[in-house]
Amino acid sequence: MDMQGQSIVSIRDFSKDKIKAIVDKALEVKQGRWSNALNGKVLATLFFEPSTRTRLSFEAAMNGMGGRVIGFADPNVSSAKKGETLGDTIKTVTGYVDAIVIRHPVEGAARLASEVANVPVINAGDGSNQHPTQTFLDLVTIQEEFGRLEGLKIGLMGDLKYGRTVHSLAMALSLFGSQLVFVSPPGLRMPEHLCDELNSAGTKFSEADDLESLDQVLDVLYVTRIQKERFADLLEYERVAGAYRIKPETLSGNCQQARIMHPLPRVNEIAEEVDDMPNAIYFRQAHNGVPTRQALLGLVTGAIQ
Ligand code: NCD
Repeated sequence: MDMQGQSIVSIRDFSKDKIKAIVDKALEVKQGRWSNALNGKVLATLFFEPSTRTRLSFEAAMNGMGGRVIGFADPNVSSAKKGETLGDTIKTVTGYVDAIVIRHPVEGAARLASEVANVPVINAGDGSNQHPTQTFLDLVTIQEEFGRLEGLKIGLMGDLKYGRTVHSLAMALSLFGSQLVFVSPPGLRMPEHLCDELNSAGTKFSEADDLESLDQVLDVLYVTRIQKERFADLLEYERVAGAYRIKPETLSGNCQQARIMHPLPRVNEIAEEVDDMPNAIYFRQAHNGVPTRQALLGLVTGAIQ
């Protein structure tokens, strides 16, 4: 697979076959093939928003395969604080490294960065828009659990309005014939333009206010945090905060067998008692961030074919 030089900005830029091939590559990497493939490569991680898993798993991915990392985890220690434009920052950093990972609050920031950089740019989240590498690790986890990506019944629950992880994931799942159920408080529904896209792709989806009103058995329940930082009005946030919480007793009926996934961090959407249940796979999911990002970094730098 030749992806050398390619940026990873939106899941929409990937065909079904390409996504499948990347998932398979990540599983190959996880099995220990391609060790040290990133030897001599340098990655820049430019995080203009908080992160634990995404940034650290990119770092672990590079370190684990012989690569190195430079970057910042807080824009206040970068020249953005002095008023430098994103374009100028990228035009500079592109000369230091083999690839750039960027997380930024502005939708479209990663696309802009990819247009001015001479090296591949990987979107680690741009506002409420997209988080494609999270989707790849989500799909790797689903493939491991079910042995397939096709034809699963998947509930996406929580903040479907502002959650970039569910925006990317829904787009990807629509390529694999998933039946989707969107479970959210009415004010946090999946944006209309994304529902329109799903409709034109012929993807079946339904919407529900809560799990009690679910009328089908789920294979996966993908839970998300309410994205407090995206609310213009904190009173709005207070109205929906704590609207739903997965407890051991939730995992009955249509959700009895459902694998519980979550991009993390969780705030209070999943009770800690759920962690020990066989349904809970969210920490395993987080760990898949390393081989998945190794595969992606290897592919875009040409170190892995
Ligand atoms: C998510 C994000 O940043 O969009 N976190 C992650 O990358 N795993 C989800 C979130 O912050 O709620």
